[in-house]
Order: sequence, then structure tokens, then C-alpha cells
Amino acid sequence: MNSYTLSAPAKINLYLEIIGDRPDGYHELVMILQSIELADLIELRPNGTEQTRLHCNNPQVPLDASNLAYKAVVLMQEKFPKIATNYGGIDITIDKKIPVAAGLAGGSTNGAAVLVGINLMWELGLTVPQLQTLAAKLGSDVPFCISGGTAIATGRGEQLDPIIDLDNLWVVLAKYRSLSVSTAWAYNTYKQQFGNSYIFDSEDVKSRTSQVHSGALVDAIVHKDSVNIGKLLHNDLEKVVLSAYPPVAQLRKAFQQVGCLGTMMSGSGPTVFALCESREQAELVKVKVREAIPDPDLEFWVTQLSSAGIQVASY
Ligand code: C5P
Repeated sequence: MNSYTLSAPAKINLYLEIIGDRPDGYHELVMILQSIELADLIELRPNGTEQTRLHCNNPQVPLDASNLAYKAVVLMQEKFPKIATNYGGIDITIDKKIPVAAGLAGGSTNGAAVLVGINLMWELGLTVPQLQTLAAKLGSDVPFCISGGTAIATGRGEQLDPIIDLDNLWVVLAKYRSLSVSTAWAYNTYKQQFGNSYIFDSEDVKSRTSQVHSGALVDAIVHKDSVNIGKLLHNDLEKVVLSAYPPVAQLRKAFQQVGCLGTMMSGSGPTVFALCESREQAELVKVKVREAIPDPDLEFWVTQLSSAGIQVASY
């Protein structure tokens, strides 16, 4: 049986709007998700035992059953018990490049890679939509991570409509190494503070959700109008995270002042990104923000937008 190494890209949110509550306890969202080239490498190797064993070069990553990569194995074992017993245990090695608990779907993309890898290893022949249905059981962002690119995500974030690929722009990411934000905390706090503005009527939710398809940001993406894409970035969760974490607000302001296409916090944060026209502009933005905030705890990544989801790197 072959071993597989998969590339598992991170994502940023070009748009995140919270519409209301859902009966399942999650929030109804309208998002535009975008893959970036910053990616983890996930190796799956049969280990000849009955156990799942996780290895990772970043000590912040849990190696137990709470890890989405581990949960993905359990999900496939439950779904295909006989095949799972025939093939036996798997060693999963995560080469972590994506910052952890950062709003970049680092855990979700690892779970997505394990689903894709097991589909190949066990020769299951599942299609991308079938894998995405399983992926939704692991987390709201996991289906997107499988296919990647640029997509409108609605519902909990698991219903996807791909838009034209937007892979020409560059992005600077910045995150304080010691700072992480819990996604559940961000959504719960948003609900406490802004729950009175939620839309409850299902027809209103539908019409709000469909508006994004004809909205200004999708139009800008379709026309590759980078100036307007930069201007139209939006994230409702900034309202709670920036006020609770002043260094993140300061970082956001620093990016705004140095001249990029646009800047925004990704997902539930605390990563802040700046969209740029070129690698040269991105490197310059990074240098200027580093000068404005010379804190050694602040880390930067320069990367490109990408059209790729989970891909086999080698086998
Ligand atoms: O789906 P995932 O496990 O990634 O979500 C993490 C947490 O984020 C959930 O437990 C929930 O508190 C919050 N969330 C939400 N509505 C969504 C997605 C996430 O409230 N659509």
C-alpha cells in the first residue's frame, strides 16, 4: 500500500458576514473564501499496527483525538469499517507551516488532506462532492479546504459556489506568535453583542444569502478588479476581536497606513492580512509594518493567492 504526501493550503476570508442563528447552534454565514499558497505538508503512511499515530514539528499542535486530522481517520474508519480493518493503522506526519489557531483554517485543511489521502490509500473512489459531504461533519471550513480556490460559502460555511480563480494577487499575513483566538469565543461574543440584529425569517435569510452572488465584491472578483477587491474586504468578527485584542487592532491600523490594496482580519483572527498587487509591494508592506511595530513576537508571511485545494505532492 502506498504512502501519500499531500499539500494542504491555508485560506483567508475576503468576506465574512454573520446573518443569524441556526437551529444546529451554529451561525448562518455569507463568506468569500480564498486559498493561499502557504500550505502544510501531510504524510500518510501505513504503520502495520491498528493505531492512528500523529506526529508534528509544531508543539502547539495536539497529537490526540482532538486533532481534526485524527478525527478524519476516525470518520473514515466509522464509514468504511471493513476496509479500515484490512488496511490497518496510519502514521500521519504534519509538517506545519500554517500558524495555529490563527483564522487561516490550519486545522481544517489538515482534516481535509487526511480525507483525500485515505480516499487514495484505501482506493475508495469517492468523488469531491462525496468527500465534501464527509468533510462537513468535521468542521464548517473543511469542505472548502478540499476544493480550494475562490468560493462563496453559505450556510455554516459548508455550502460552496466556486467563483473565478483569483490567483494573481499577493498577500502579507501577520500574527503575534503568542496570541490565539478561539473561534467559538468570537462567535459567542458576537452573538452577545450583536444578536439583536440577527435575521430570523428563513425567507429573509435566503434573500440576504443570494444577494452576495450579485454583490459588489463578487463582481470585482469576476472582473479581477484588484482595487475594488481591496476596498470591499469585510469581516463582521473584527467588531469583537479588534476591541478585545488591542495589538490586533494596532496591527490592522499599521497595514492600513502603509499603502496596500486592502487589509482585513482573517476568520476569527488574530491573523491580519494585506492584499497586494505584486510580490514587490507585499515585501515592501511587510518591511514597513515591521518598522512600525518592531515587536519580535510579531511574525510575517508573504504568499500568493492560489487556486489549489488539497493536492497530492508525492506518493
Ligand atoms: O465548524 P467549526 O468546528 O470549525 O466551528 C468552530 C466553532 O465556531 C463552533 O463551535 C461555533 O462556536 C463557531 N461557528 C459558528 N457558526 C459557524 C461556524 C463556526 O457559530 N457557521
